[in-house]
Order: sequence, then structure tokens, then C-alpha cells
Amino acid sequence: MTGTPSGEELKACCAAAYSSDVVALLLGDSYHPGGTALTRRLADGLGLTTGARVLDVASGRGTTALLLADGYGAEVDGVDYAPANTALAQGAAQAVGLADRARFTTGDAEHLPYPDGVFDAVVCECALCTFPDKARAAAEFARVLGPAGRLGITDVTIDPTRLPPGLTGLGARIACIADARPLQDYTEILAGAGLHTLHTERHDHAMLRMIDQIEARLNLLRMTAAARLTAAGVDLDAAPAVLAAARTAVADGVLGYALLIAERPPQ
Ligand SMILES: C[S@@+](CC[C@H](N)C(=O)[O-])C[C@H]1O[C@@H](n2cnc3c(N)ncnc32)[C@H](O)[C@@H]1O
Repeated sequence: MTGTPSGEELKACCAAAYSSDVVALLLGDSYHPGGTALTRRLADGLGLTTGARVLDVASGRGTTALLLADGYGAEVDGVDYAPANTALAQGAAQAVGLADRARFTTGDAEHLPYPDGVFDAVVCECALCTFPDKARAAAEFARVLGPAGRLGITDVTIDPTRLPPGLTGLGARIACIADARPLQDYTEILAGAGLHTLHTERHDHAMLRMIDQIEARLNLLRMTAAARLTAAGVDLDAAPAVLAAARTAVADGVLGYALLIAERPPQ
């Protein structure tokens, strides 16, 4: 890729990274800070009930969608830009006997392949930060929600004025950092789409735990699978400095993670 990447190039780059096995080795099943515990907190905040129709935008390998189908009795659609993730998520749903309540489709958050007003809730974990056109994605969340439908987001937050240079490039963008926004900006983007924020929470400690986890797994994989990591584009020499910069940024209040619940107003 040369010059400034286009929106489509950024989405393809992000989808390719998050469908690689190396990312699965580093992150485990849930590709967001806080893992399934934070997903449960989000689902509880959304007040999901049995039979609720839920859309998981950027569903990755299906962990969030399967949790909502299994633990909350929801009827879940998952949509992800990466065809490989869609296939893996569908396979996982079949393997655990949830294929009748969790369906996965390849598609773009900025052009959701669903009709207007069909979902009771939309969730989106650790992905709005990567979408090139966040306002467009927010408008799509609002479009597919029914009246009084709820949106649940967990996402990376940054203070863009204080982000260190090591966390601003394309790699940091794919790692969900460089194009993340302050929590207030997310609420304003949603407000622009007609979505009213009801509740926010900070979960910065979850970001620290994820940094610790990635460091521990990298150290292990460095000994057992260094060639595989390098082939997948992981710069093992640069990684310690990047992780240290991320840890400092969390400690300084520059980088964090947040949960947000919003509502499409009843008409
Ligand atoms: C950090 S992962 C999060 C996955 C999942 N939500 C989770 O928390 O485990 C980001 C995901 O966003 C997907 N993605 C990136 N851009 C997208 C887009 N424009 N539309 C749909 N999915 C997208 C990637 O393929 C990847 O699966």
C-alpha cells in the first residue's frame, strides 16, 4: 500500500489482520479488552430478553454473538468484513448447536445488509474505532434499530492530542488505537445519527490486562513460533516498545476502553 490508504483499503487491511491465526493466538477468542465478562456487562445493560433480535456488527469469529444467543436466548445476526471470520463464526455456531439462533454474513458496517428497523439491539465491540466513516456506521446502526432499540458499544478511547508517535501509524490504526476517539466524541457521533446515549462506563483496567496478556503470549510465542509471527507481520523487535508505550498511555489517561449504551428514541 502506497500513500494514504483509502477507506476500502483500511477496512480490507483490518479485516485481513483480524482473520489471521496469529491474532487469534495473541488475543484468544474475544478480540476486545474485557473479554466475555465485559460482553455480559454490555448485554445486561441492554436488558436483552429471550427472543430479542440482535445484530453484532464486526462479529469477528462469533464469540460475542454466540454468547448472546446462548446466555440470553437472543436471535443473533453477526456481520463482519472478513469472509474468513464469517466462515469461522458460522462453523463455531454449528459446532455448539446454535446455528438456528446465530447467523453470520460478510458485509460492511458502513452499508449494513439488513432492512430498516428490524433489530431490538445492535452491539459493536472494539470495531467502531477502526471504521473509516464512523458517522456513516452510526447512521447504519440507527437505521436497522427499531423504535426504542438499544445500541451497546465497547470500544477503545484515546486523547488524540497526547497519543505518543509510536501509537499513531497504520499498525496502531489496525490495532484499534490510532483512529479511536475520546468517549465524548463517540457520544457526539451517535447523537448525529439520532442515537441518545443513556449510560457510559470506563474500563481502562481491561485495556491494561489485554496489554499484559499480549505481552505474555508474545514472550511465549517468541520462543516457539517466532518465524510464524514474523511471517504474519509482527515486528518482534519493535513490540516491547509499542507495548510499553501503550501501558504508559493507559496510565496517563491517554488510552483506555469504555462501554456505552445508547437508544434510538421511541417514535
Ligand atoms: C478488533 S476485532 C473485534 C471483533 C469482535 N467484535 C470482538 O470483539 O471479538 C475488529 C473486527 O472488525 C471487523 N471489521 C473491520 N472493519 C469492518 C467493517 N467496515 N465492517 C464490518 N466489520 C469490520 C474485522 O474484520 C474484525 O473482525
